[in-house]
Amino acid sequence: MDALAAGPSEAELAAGKEAYALDRKHVFHSWAAQGSLDPMTVTKAEGSYVWDGAGHKLLDFSSQMVNTNIGHQHPAVVKAIQDQAAKLCTIAPSHVNDARSEAARLIAERTPGTLNHIFFTNGGAEAVEHAIRMARLHTGRRKVLSAYRSYHGGTDLAVNVTGDTRRFASDYGDAGVSHFMPAYPYRSYFGSQTLEEETERALRHLEDTIILEGPETIAAIILETVPGTAGIYAPPPGYLKGVRDLTDRYGLVYIADEVMAGFGRTGAWFAVDHWDVVPDLMTFAKGVNSGYVPLGGVAISDDIFETFRERAYPGGLTYSGHPLACAAAVATIRTMADEGMIENAERMGREVFGPGLEKIAKNHASVGEVRGLGCFWAIELVKNPETREPLAAYGGSSPEMNELIGTMKKLGLLPFANYNRIHVAPPLNITQDQAEEGLRIIDRALDVADAHVV
Ligand SMILES: Cc1ncc(COP(=O)(O)O)c(C=O)c1O
Repeated sequence: MDALAAGPSEAELAAGKEAYALDRKHVFHSWAAQGSLDPMTVTKAEGSYVWDGAGHKLLDFSSQMVNTNIGHQHPAVVKAIQDQAAKLCTIAPSHVNDARSEAARLIAERTPGTLNHIFFTNGGAEAVEHAIRMARLHTGRRKVLSAYRSYHGGTDLAVNVTGDTRRFASDYGDAGVSHFMPAYPYRSYFGSQTLEEETERALRHLEDTIILEGPETIAAIILETVPGTAGIYAPPPGYLKGVRDLTDRYGLVYIADEVMAGFGRTGAWFAVDHWDVVPDLMTFAKGVNSGYVPLGGVAISDDIFETFRERAYPGGLTYSGHPLACAAAVATIRTMADEGMIENAERMGREVFGPGLEKIAKNHASVGEVRGLGCFWAIELVKNPETREPLAAYGGSSPEMNELIGTMKKLGLLPFANYNRIHVAPPLNITQDQAEEGLRIIDRALDVADAHVV
């Protein structure tokens, strides 16, 4: 995509101003106190760039909600949506549709093991809801175990499975969910000094949790393969294999949530591929079609499929397998494969983001840790490198973080920020020049955070 593409026209900027006024009057925004909002208007987006309401160009290191994996306005996907719209905009999920069938085939071909059956939803939270429903019906049990420091979606059950502060307002303690401590080496809950220790202790804690909760009451363990919004902390070696072993030993369904980490984000089609682990159910959304039309789903193993061979699955959605969304998925997956985007994401992580962020960490006292893989990295910011006191408290923002984010935007970079972290999550087809441009901006902006180190 042409990095020198023209910005928005005068007419587009004027339309943006009008849209902003209407937004403030009528649009109710997610996760926000409505009165104090000042949302950024996007007047144009192309490839790895977006333009704001004033026409400023920003390098999109957020991929929005970490979903535009093939960048903005990829012509192959735009055309596929246009062609599908001209052919068949919508059809009931009970009828066969070629876009849906082909999307299911392309997904099933890429998922590991026997995850051969695809139930389509409109997004990630619904995928989580349905995966849990399937696990409950398959096992005849209700309880679900999930990790603290995780995010699984905003609907009632998905937000109760979530292990962060967004759960609190909707948690009445009656969702049938118990949380356990994750393997998180930088702030180990187990006092670990090495990755091996963290793996061993986190697995022992998980097994204790299973035993103390009563294995015969537990339907499933749900785990983000690489927790995303919660901090992009990849599991230490052996952890996921250990989770698989525990779920097998105690007869629990293992649900891998790959809504954010899936479809190339980590430099593999699915993050579980890095650790050679095959879950029983795998949720996906976002990158499956780069979010051009809402789509998510559950990949189902042969074994769980058998539960519903003779028994009706009690669940469905008007838009399950929507043709426009599925046509976008078909074009996205094919384009990702044809243009080598998975390989590009892997190489960017290994050759550009990994070494580049390590160098940045050395230059800035405010950087506690950088970590990640592929096009999926976190910069964890601290006030004090010794105590690791975060630059914003868990669950909140801070004037220091807001200043840093504002500086990055002024310098031409749109970051993904959460609590005390800046995430680096650009499109998977980002060029090396663009990636290096983004790292230079981050390096410059971090001087602002360094000024708050005590
Ligand atoms: C790991 C994970 N699971 C589930 C969800 C929920 O997806 P959605 O917002 O499409 O409902 C998200 C969204 O960020 C996510 O990151």
